Amino acid sequence: MLNVDKQCGTFLYRQVIDLITENMDTGTLLPGDRLPSLRKMSRSAGVSVPTVRQAYVELERRRRVESRPQSGFYVRHRATNDIVRPTRTTAANPAPLRCRPLMERVYDGVNNPDLVPLGIANPSMAKPAAKTLHRMMKRVMARAEERSLGYASTLGEPALRRQIAYHYLDTIGAQVEPDEICITNGGQEALLLALTAVASTGDVIAVETPTYHGMLELIDSLDMLAVEVETCPEEGVTLSELERTLQKYPVKACMFSTTLGNPLGVTMPDQDRERLVRLLEQYDVALIEDDVYGDLRFDGQRPVPAQFLGSKARIVTCGSFSKTAASGYRIGWVVAGQTIDEVARLKRAFSCSSGLLQQLTLAEFLASGDYSRHVKALTPVLQRNSERMRALVAEHFPAETRTSRPVGGSVLWVELPRKVDAEQLFDDAIAAGISIAPGHIFSPCACYTNFIRLSFGHPWNEKTEDAIEWLGQQVTRLAV
Ligand SMILES: Cc1ncc(COP(=O)(O)O)c(C=O)c1O
Repeated sequence: MLNVDKQCGTFLYRQVIDLITENMDTGTLLPGDRLPSLRKMSRSAGVSVPTVRQAYVELERRRRVESRPQSGFYVRHRATNDIVRPTRTTAANPAPLRCRPLMERVYDGVNNPDLVPLGIANPSMAKPAAKTLHRMMKRVMARAEERSLGYASTLGEPALRRQIAYHYLDTIGAQVEPDEICITNGGQEALLLALTAVASTGDVIAVETPTYHGMLELIDSLDMLAVEVETCPEEGVTLSELERTLQKYPVKACMFSTTLGNPLGVTMPDQDRERLVRLLEQYDVALIEDDVYGDLRFDGQRPVPAQFLGSKARIVTCGSFSKTAASGYRIGWVVAGQTIDEVARLKRAFSCSSGLLQQLTLAEFLASGDYSRHVKALTPVLQRNSERMRALVAEHFPAETRTSRPVGGSVLWVELPRKVDAEQLFDDAIAAGISIAPGHIFSPCACYTNFIRLSFGHPWNEKTEDAIEWLGQQVTRLAV
């Protein structure tokens, strides 16, 4: 059963894990089967007993096996909604983007208002703050009159930058100077400014896998290369794999979402975030924290972004009001720290400044306390939607289906049976009036061919439930 390659550079215990999970996936090892004893496995694989134990313990942590006292390790029975597994155990080569045409078709689907919107991550629509924001915008227009029609300054409206700084102080006790914040056209421009401030054409950028497709498109458009780093669906980036990547490739920067990743909805534990900062200091690699979902943890506990862990590392945090308040306002920000002058220069060059009326309205939204109240009301709605969606997937999709277990945000990552081609499912779903995001677009080498991302960030209704049921039936048809 085993064939460990001692020369290939991958940790031996990880090779043991891979070989066992392969045997589980092909049906050689079935739920309830006992794994070979530590000693037997050590002999047949030619690795030490502690190496095998390390592999088994890791498999237990990933909930693939369970240990029974005095008896050994057993393959677990599938619980409803088994959690997706990390699919990569070794660093992939830096790669240009393979699935541009598919991405364009996904955006066509997302922009079609007639489709059930399971393909777009737009959580603020689950409980729109439209009335409050409209009222505030009217008030701002009446008060600011002509000024609201003019240009904002390059860094952005001081009142909004102060409110964002105050929000960091209020929610996580972090000290941010309003003058180290630059207001941007959404989180996407925040990522663009941060990336161009710390890296140049040809540079290698480390990303989580799977990761947000907009980040991959950005890296590719700037003629940089993305290298994927294994990301655990329950703990975020695997730091040992990141270190291997840093040793192997000349990585210039990492673009990670350690608070709430898209599509996994995972938060990196605090101690790992601190280890991440130290590791990046050691290798002198910059970190761009994509924190656009930061306020949307279901338990309301906002972890401290890496930038505020008191490090010497070059870290830039990107935020946005798109996910919490109004995606159409196109207002985000960069906490640029030491790179603020460069970020300001780039902002001027790329887009001059961001819309003043929207900035003044959001400043008022935050200052009144309505933003915090709105987020507090939005997250339980998202959590309920997430639970409903997981339950419906468990009910209607084939038994081998696995899902992520998001701790916040608005998306569910779904692993389908191997035979299912997510691109085919995407085409069928569009024809049936449903938009979904096929897994291909979450990796530069389009490797997640049997995965989809489903959004629960919209008002829940019968159409949502019918769409999930239809998808389950279609996946069942495609799986044979
Ligand atoms: C992880 C992540 N980062 C950044 C963005 C871009 O945010 P914005 O709409 O504010 O540009 C998105 C939007 O989907 C996202 O999911």
